[in-house]
Amino acid sequence: MKELEVGGVNGYRVYIDSTTDRLYQALSENKVKHTDNIFLVTDDKVYSLYKNGIKKFKEDFNMKVCYFKNGESNKNINTVQEIYTFLIENNANRDSIIIALGGGVVGDIAGFAAATYMRGIKYINIPTTLLSQVDSSIGGKVGYNENSIKNIIGSFYNPYFVYVSTNFIKTLDEKYFVDGLGEIVKYALIKDKALFNYLSENYKGILERENDKILHIARNCLKIKKDIVEQDFEDTGLRNLLNFGHTVGHGIEMISGKELTHGQCVALGILVSLKLSESILNLDKQVYEKTIELYKKLGLPVKYKVDNYNLFMYAINHDKKNNDKIRFVLLQDIGEGKIKIEVSKEQIFEAIRQSISKGE
Ligand SMILES: NC(=O)c1ccc[n+]([C@@H]2O[C@H](COP(=O)([O-])OP(=O)(O)OC[C@H]3O[C@@H](n4cnc5c(N)ncnc54)[C@H](O)[C@@H]3O)[C@@H](O)[C@H]2O)c1
Repeated sequence: MKELEVGGVNGYRVYIDSTTDRLYQALSENKVKHTDNIFLVTDDKVYSLYKNGIKKFKEDFNMKVCYFKNGESNKNINTVQEIYTFLIENNANRDSIIIALGGGVVGDIAGFAAATYMRGIKYINIPTTLLSQVDSSIGGKVGYNENSIKNIIGSFYNPYFVYVSTNFIKTLDEKYFVDGLGEIVKYALIKDKALFNYLSENYKGILERENDKILHIARNCLKIKKDIVEQDFEDTGLRNLLNFGHTVGHGIEMISGKELTHGQCVALGILVSLKLSESILNLDKQVYEKTIELYKKLGLPVKYKVDNYNLFMYAINHDKKNNDKIRFVLLQDIGEGKIKIEVSKEQIFEAIRQSISKGE
């Protein structure tokens, strides 16, 4: 089992393994006892897939289990209230511990409940999707959506520890697996050339979800995120790097409705950002070609016809006037992301025409 230590005021350990076999060891190392008042929060899908394991866990520890309906549409105040009610009805106190077992939605919402219940109780994160294992389980962002605005309510609150078991990925639907892949390519491009080459050379094993491949990827992405959040926990500068591809990705998500997943939109947004990087930061054109090659291997999209430019611009720029420049994360080279590069609307449209909408 490999470990990472995330530093900072409330630093924590991230265990990364292929199974949950050492979870009890991790609990014991962190002084969690079987008599502690533990509350496991998950969603209905994860619960039904893993109920035998959860049952065994419940027998070994003094644990109560609560699950809510899965999906982004349930990342809301009603679900937070459900968790508060469950905690209150079961007499949770300041020494109680929440275990979040699930994807980014469970982690964000259970983490928020932990951050606010009695002004903060411990929570342990056991991420079960690719995206949560390579990204959302660390960094301390917790929260929920309100009025369809993503993560508008939230806080920064670190987990007590994180336990990544890549075996969970085996049961993940293809759609969510691909979502994770989009974010992984992002990590490679902004900070890790070796990871980019690894993805290209090992794509077959990655698509087979081989444990050693997913372990390697999780460890490297989490290491990158750890380095970034240690320097900029509250997201005032460097952490912005993690938004690479997300500005245009968000616009595509808005115009494509439910046709594309979040990860696919980010992947397309990355391609547009690479074209912008060529014209603004002189990025070598080969990077774009290599990324297209990698996308084809991983099954990520390379084309999308952007036709509703008004809605697209509204999505990425709704709080600015028409002639304002938008700040982008761009690349100087693979592994060398740069934040706060000002880009005009015309430059974005041209980059779209030269990349994802070319020939469409
Ligand atoms: N806190 C952060 O820093 C951060 C970073 C990135 C994204 N996020 C948030 O993460 C969320 C997306 O996370 P996600 O992609 O994990 O989505 P998710 O939590 O909705 O999980 C996706 C689906 O997979 C199911 N699932 C979970 N684990 C499974 C498994 N092992 N096998 C089969 N099915 C499983 C879930 O029930 C759900 O239906 C968004 O709300 C986003 O805002 C947070």
